[in-house]
Amino acid sequence: MKKRKILVLSGPNLNMLGKREIPVYGSETLGEIHDEMYLLADKLSVEITCSQHNSEEELVQWFKRAPGEFSGVILNAGAYTHYSQALCNAIKSSRLPCIEVHMSNVFSREEFRHKSVIASACIGYITGFGGRSYTLALRAMCDEKILK
Ligand code: DQA
Repeated sequence: MKKRKILVLSGPNLNMLGKREIPVYGSETLGEIHDEMYLLADKLSVEITCSQHNSEEELVQWFKRAPGEFSGVILNAGAYTHYSQALCNAIKSSRLPCIEVHMSNVFSREEFRHKSVIASACIGYITGFGGRSYTLALRAMCDEKILK
């Protein structure tokens, strides 16, 4: 049987994890989080592709290409979460189930982080579990009622 494929996308500055605001995001690097995701994907019998982009355009482009190849998307859009209507439109037009993730608890931080302009295009939202926000999202995505 062909394995289902999930796209794991991270937005701006997430390549700086491990060096960036350690009290907020912890010391784990994005590479380490990706390694955990690949191990979990194996256990869950899904294929994943992990990719990080600083530019909004590249993230939008992934949503244009994804529908033919992927069955779902896990997205940490970083700061674009709070203002990128373009990303919201791209998620909607892909028609793929997308789970929004944040490592920090955005609701315990500055007020501008309380608003997500992409949440309405996503099927769910995970925030505040550090690197585990990504693995929890993968478990949720692989639920039989979500990934058909
Ligand atoms: C973040 C939260 C955003 O507000 C912030 O701009 C980020 C990271 C998180 O994972 O907690 O870059 O998405």
